[in-house]
Amino acid sequence: MRKVFTPITFLLLVGIFFTNGAMCQKQSIIHPGELWPDNNGNHIQAHGGGIIKFGKTYYWYGECRRQGLDTAYRYVSCYSSKDLVNWTSRGDVVKMHDPENLGRRWILERPKVYYNEPTKKFVMYFHEDNAGYKVARVGIAVSDKPDGNFTFVKSFRPLGHESRDIGQFIDDDGTAYLIFEDRPYGFRIAKLSADYMSLEKEMCLIPQHMEGGALVHYHGLYYAIGSSLTGWSPNPNKYATAKSLEGPWSEFQDIAPPATKTYGSQSTMLIKVTGTKGTSVIFMGDIWKPRTQWDSRYLWMPLKIGDGKLWLPEPQPFTLNVKTG
Ligand code: DGJ
Repeated sequence: MRKVFTPITFLLLVGIFFTNGAMCQKQSIIHPGELWPDNNGNHIQAHGGGIIKFGKTYYWYGECRRQGLDTAYRYVSCYSSKDLVNWTSRGDVVKMHDPENLGRRWILERPKVYYNEPTKKFVMYFHEDNAGYKVARVGIAVSDKPDGNFTFVKSFRPLGHESRDIGQFIDDDGTAYLIFEDRPYGFRIAKLSADYMSLEKEMCLIPQHMEGGALVHYHGLYYAIGSSLTGWSPNPNKYATAKSLEGPWSEFQDIAPPATKTYGSQSTMLIKVTGTKGTSVIFMGDIWKPRTQWDSRYLWMPLKIGDGKLWLPEPQPFTLNVKTG
């Protein structure tokens, strides 16, 4: 019989074992601003994203800006996780070709997915626009499964208003809302219809020019966060509070030392993690790199929040335990 298990094959096997091991090693720490590898060791591509929990699994959707994509299409990627730290790539759940003839440089940004219990559909909202950001609509795509594929259904201006950056908010009672920027008025919060395929009613217009709108309901108070309109460049993000979504909303205040420009990031979502020992609210921000979008990073950091105050501490690595909160 031929001898196949030579010392060289043994060394090769050990090498493969360790390389794979390093790639799939479980992470326990979130490093704000650093490369964030998925289960394949690739930097997560979920920019301007949103997260939903379906059963015991979190799904993170966002703009896929991977290098080498076909420029005729726009892509949304999806990742799943049980702990918000280790993310498994579920692939590109959207690969869409200009559905409404908006031109070669059409825009699909800030995808947000909701699960609609009555129809059992996953409903994706996204910012749909032309290259000049003049169309200002939301697009809707649906899927039967969380990890796609999502099929384009329609686009519209929510409640007749312009809509650029969108944010998603699901309240503690399960009611789903869309946050959208309506220039030049401010940003609006609107309740989704029963099947999530349209908007039912406006809750409020916050007369502040803000993008990257995000909301959290914490200890009886709503906290709204947003950034100023400075394109891809960071600026000091601000927050306001209200006892009800209808307002009245407080004055806006800085969430971090203004000189840091939100530590170089822009808000996209606030995630509330309630566990056995407490509740954390995580600021989810994008550190955009407009010329090398694939390398844009994520700034996640637990907020100091309570009694009407909110503060984003200086980013540093942190552990997150979704069981204890
Ligand atoms: C700021 C927005 O928040 C981003 O989503 C993107 O639309 C850029 N503007 C484009 O300049």
